[in-house]
Amino acid sequence: MKLPRRFFQPLAAGAPAPYRELPVKLERMIHFVPPHVDKVRARVPELAPTVDIVLGNLEDAVPIDHKEAARKGFVQMAQATDFTATGTGLWTRVNALNSPWLLDDLFEIVGAVGDKLDVVMVPKVEGPWDIHYVDQLLAQLEARHGVAKPILIHAILETAEGVANVDAIACASPRMHGMSLGPADLAASRGMKTTRVGGGHPDYVVIADPAGDAPRARAQQDLWHYTIGKMVDACMANGIKAFYGPFGDFSDGEACEAQFRNAFLMGCAGAWTLHPSQVAIAKRVFAPDPAEVAFAARIVEAMPDGTGAVMLDGKMQDDATWKQAKVIVDLARLVAE
Ligand code: GLV
Ligand code: MG
Repeated sequence: MKLPRRFFQPLAAGAPAPYRELPVKLERMIHFVPPHVDKVRARVPELAPTVDIVLGNLEDAVPIDHKEAARKGFVQMAQATDFTATGTGLWTRVNALNSPWLLDDLFEIVGAVGDKLDVVMVPKVEGPWDIHYVDQLLAQLEARHGVAKPILIHAILETAEGVANVDAIACASPRMHGMSLGPADLAASRGMKTTRVGGGHPDYVVIADPAGDAPRARAQQDLWHYTIGKMVDACMANGIKAFYGPFGDFSDGEACEAQFRNAFLMGCAGAWTLHPSQVAIAKRVFAPDPAEVAFAARIVEAMPDGTGAVMLDGKMQDDATWKQAKVIVDLARLVAE
């Protein structure tokens, strides 16, 4: 099933072959807040203008005896701040489909603030059937409560079964906004041997061949490369967005930045930010490098109709590199707006 490319800019009139159109809305970070914590909730009005998306988390990290308070806190949070004034997205992460809380999460939240909610993030999605279920529930709740704007769905890719079904998940509903990699649950589901939340592992390395007497070099690899690549392809093929998920070591900004950057280079639009220090990292990473933008702008300028071949600084440019350049130039424009 091919879905309309609702989240991407239409091709400019007279543009040549399609290039990868960019997201209309800048979504560099999905910033998580725990809605049951009064102190954090009180700071949301001042937080909202500084991030692209505020997400009220109801799932993992919220203790069982605070599930109800989190739901109620989210409703208060949605009522207390005008997120549309700053163009900030308002999302919630609901509990999993096999938990006792999902129905109440959706019933209470859509009933109370469905008209303010942009996206429901659904955890532990295993196949398109999970999306169909949430899609139908949302349709019923929107109809019951007169919610005019369709609430979108964002799936977390965090089970081995979900990864196996990623293409079918990406096109499971016209409500699909995008997908995030959930490295912690995915590591557990796959039986990976790590206790970290995202990022690398000191033992996941390659060793260079010995060269004379030089010591063998060891280089750490990106543990998430395969899944991010698979997720980005599934998302882009269906006109939705891919995101890297959480990075759990708040003390290691450098490693967080490296992980976010790998995801950005591979096609992700943004990442989750769980700590205020990660917001600046996401802003820095999910925007193109100025030198790259300058070079890309030269390519676009040198090939006004996007066709043919030219040489720039000894590097061959043609229709394909024009499309690559457009991705970078368009993103730079979006960041600058
Ligand atoms: C996120 O939910 C994760 O499991 O990494
Ligand atoms: Mg998870």
